[in-house]
Amino acid sequence: MKPIVIYGAGGAGKVVKQFILDINSQQPQWDILGYVVTDLADLGPRDSVEEVLGDEEWLSRQPAGLSVALGIGTPGIGKIISERLRTNIPGLQYPNIVDPNVIMSFGVKMGIGNLIGPWFIVGPETTMGDFNFLNCSSVIGHDVRMGSYCVINPGGSIGGGVEMGDSVLVAPNASIMQYKKIGSEATITAGAVVNRDVPDGASVVGIRVRMKL
Ligand SMILES: CC(C)(COP(=O)(O)OP(=O)(O)OC[C@H]1O[C@@H](n2cnc3c(N)ncnc32)[C@H](O)[C@@H]1OP(=O)(O)O)[C@@H](O)C(=O)NCCC(=O)NCCS
Repeated sequence: MKPIVIYGAGGAGKVVKQFILDINSQQPQWDILGYVVTDLADLGPRDSVEEVLGDEEWLSRQPAGLSVALGIGTPGIGKIISERLRTNIPGLQYPNIVDPNVIMSFGVKMGIGNLIGPWFIVGPETTMGDFNFLNCSSVIGHDVRMGSYCVINPGGSIGGGVEMGDSVLVAPNASIMQYKKIGSEATITAGAVVNRDVPDGASVVGIRVRMKL
């Protein structure tokens, strides 16, 4: 079994631990050593404190080749941490963690460090960069182009041919209609329905319905 640590001891870290346990339940693959955090002094009652191994200084003392999964649910923070780790501790590895209950279509291409949870459907010929966190029960349609560091939370629905930049948050039950372009660092808030392009850094809210006569 390969040793792996989860960066982040909060809710997202727990979710990632479950993805890895799901993989192990099909075929034992990963030895989960525990969690690593940025600052031990910031640990709170919602964190899995007993399973925390240490901080980045602890990580820097581990043998080269240790695998890390980023359990970070905020796109901007995930980007900062992954860039810092890759610069300061070059020997770490970032496997793609794909839950066995994911439906992965043909022709999907992805970089490194992507985390994909149960009941997620990734449509045909979709591409994604690195360190995306695709939480459970969501759908990406066909031919989607996704950058890096994006977070899609449960119930998110990304239509076919959508183009997403980096560090996009898709909050629970938000829908992006087909072929729309979503700029980097955009926030698609919970339940929003996106029927037009969204510029970089924008936050979009709500759904507008009207009678079609
Ligand atoms: C993205 C999000 C965090 C925005 O929160 P925020 O920036 O703090 O927004 P605020 O609370 O300041 O709200 C600003 C306004 O937008 C409204 N608003 C915020 N989110 C909204 C939503 N999803 N739908 C409708 N209106 C919303 C607020 O009611 C408020 O309106 P007001 O000014 O008239 O009172 C929030 O909308 C969201 O989607 N949360 C879920 C995040 C998530 O993915 N969680 C993980 C679950 S697994």
